[in-house]
Amino acid sequence: MRNTNSFYITTPIYYVNDVPHIGHAYTTVAADVLARYWRLRGHDVFFLTGLDEHGQKVQQAAAKAGIDPQAHCDKLAPQFQELWKRLNISNDAFIRTTDAPHKSVVRRYLQDLFDRQLIYKADYTGWYCTFDERFWTEKDVVGGLCPDCKRPVEQLSEHNYFFKMGQYQDRLIDHIKQHPNFIRPESRRNEVLGFLQTQKLGDLSISRPKSRLSWGIELPFDQDCVTYVWFDALVNYASALEYLPKQPSFDRFWPASVHLVGKDILTTHAVYWSTMLMALNLPLPETIFAHGWWTVDGEKMSKSRGNVVDPNKMIDAFGADAFRYFLLREVPFGYDGDFSYTAMLGRNNSELADDLGNLLSRSLTMIERFANGIIPRSRINPSLGEKAGEVVARVHVHLDRLEFGKALEAIWELVQEANQYIDKTAPWKLAKKPEERAHLDEALLHLAAALKTLGVLLYPFMPSASKEILRQIGLTWEPSVFFPAAALNWDDLPGRTIAKGSSLFPRIEISSDAITLGLKEAASIQKTAPQEKGAPPVSDTSAVPQPVPATATTPAATTAAPAAAAPTPGDPAQITIDEFFKIQLKTAKVISAERVPKSEKLLKLQVSLGTEQRQIVAGIGKKYEPEALVGKMIVIVANLKPAKLMGIESQGMVLAAGDSEVRGLATILEDVEPGTKVK
Ligand code: MSP
Repeated sequence: MRNTNSFYITTPIYYVNDVPHIGHAYTTVAADVLARYWRLRGHDVFFLTGLDEHGQKVQQAAAKAGIDPQAHCDKLAPQFQELWKRLNISNDAFIRTTDAPHKSVVRRYLQDLFDRQLIYKADYTGWYCTFDERFWTEKDVVGGLCPDCKRPVEQLSEHNYFFKMGQYQDRLIDHIKQHPNFIRPESRRNEVLGFLQTQKLGDLSISRPKSRLSWGIELPFDQDCVTYVWFDALVNYASALEYLPKQPSFDRFWPASVHLVGKDILTTHAVYWSTMLMALNLPLPETIFAHGWWTVDGEKMSKSRGNVVDPNKMIDAFGADAFRYFLLREVPFGYDGDFSYTAMLGRNNSELADDLGNLLSRSLTMIERFANGIIPRSRINPSLGEKAGEVVARVHVHLDRLEFGKALEAIWELVQEANQYIDKTAPWKLAKKPEERAHLDEALLHLAAALKTLGVLLYPFMPSASKEILRQIGLTWEPSVFFPAAALNWDDLPGRTIAKGSSLFPRIEISSDAITLGLKEAASIQKTAPQEKGAPPVSDTSAVPQPVPATATTPAATTAAPAAAAPTPGDPAQITIDEFFKIQLKTAKVISAERVPKSEKLLKLQVSLGTEQRQIVAGIGKKYEPEALVGKMIVIVANLKPAKLMGIESQGMVLAAGDSEVRGLATILEDVEPGTKVK
């Protein structure tokens, strides 16, 4: 029996009938997050993934490609292995069911069960579905169609070997009842229990005549048959421990801590595998967790629809970390979810580029400017300790429960809090007053400390970004670092020289055509060059006359074109509602802001409208320091003809209150998406 300090996590082994898609990437990324998390917690982790290479599906795919099945598997296997490398998957081993040692374990198990009369031979007639590779009974089949995949079934009669699965029904029910974490989430547990408590569990046909299917492991007791693909595939979880790295490891790692599977293969795991293990006198896994399925733009993903999401393209466009983040943030684990390129883009640009990326670059810019790039020695403000401590505890709880989305939400609270802290403490103001030096140092250390906590917490989810955050704040990554202690240890920060680097997550601009085309044209994606975010002003003075609108307006026109004077009721200058609707007002999030050189009033803003980024030159520099605006949701006139101010193009106008002087920016109270229409 394995010791409590070990953690064994598996993904399903994927059929090599085609190249990997988002569904495969999903489970594998989730498993990777858990593997990395448990390693951080000091556990002895074994993370297994691999390929299911036998069976009808693979045989058919090989036949279609006109090559021998083994050659077909050898050709496709590297596509999975390379994808896992690109996605930063830290699996300890990779199993292929055509590995000779795996095949011998399957044959040993079969022989053992046969010798103990738990496998018997019988004639069988039934309705066979080639696609699902299984027989159905008369009552299952409606209108000649498979109840599962709705494809036509055919009547077949053959001699067959059966595993006495039915005799374990009561034991399995008891096991599920006594182990609330055995099948998760709970709704899936109830489904399996409901089925086991209302229907009689039959025996399982575990052989296929070679005449019908040759691509499989030959039964040790009958040369004319191969074993059913599931009897071969499920055994991978145990056979890997006998011959793959971290060997000898059966006692060290069995039973598995978590089998991660998609909802469609829960029955094979919870019922077939569990009863097989009972028959083999082996302990059952601790948890089988069934996740939901992705649809794409609301539709089922399929080759025939042409909407299969290729993980490689997502990595090309967004990078591995952003894709990993999206998969686990977008949908609560266990539920079905919908994938869309717009949603991926939105999360990349707002949460990764604007929130996290900006926090890093603003903080480092300030440490560079106000502390010569060295993290100051100061005290840690207790407010950070409190918030970070709370977030770390929540991440801990959520990851223990496989609630990846909630863990990320908690982490983002810390990101937001740190961004708000910058706005609140306004270090650029403190920097102007020598008597505030201590306060300024405290603020800068506070930011470095928040970044360290984030760097550690994000490691399981986004390993490269995590290492980069830590590198930029002058730390070298220790993979053996112990969680949660490391996340809350800030003693190693003061005195470190920061290493400001390129932006962590470039914003991605993509034409809406490319979005509808499903990102097929990778060329149409442009990563925007890293912005200097939140750079403190170089100079506050300007001798140059300001191109402020000639006519003062309410709200104050703060950019290019002068607006009409405000009408009073009955005024001929009144406009109709249709005229008003010609003006497109939209929410926009300020991504970066800097002073226009030699101008006291003008600020150059980069704003995000969700899928689009604009540059706006606004006459609000007397009222606002650029740093104070980053992250704010403002309102802009989005369909104003571009104009140049002091030689800089302005692609819109910011709305602000005030007459000859700007008194305040129009902002939005609620947390709406950038690019939302305002009317
Ligand atoms: N070979 C078997 C598993 C054997 S495990 C001992 C198999 N392979 S598969 O390649 O068809 O599917 C592998 C996994 O991909 C399953 O967990 C399945 O749920 C998952 N997905 C397939 N399409 C999916 C989505 N559209 N969304 C999420 N996951 C999906 O089954």
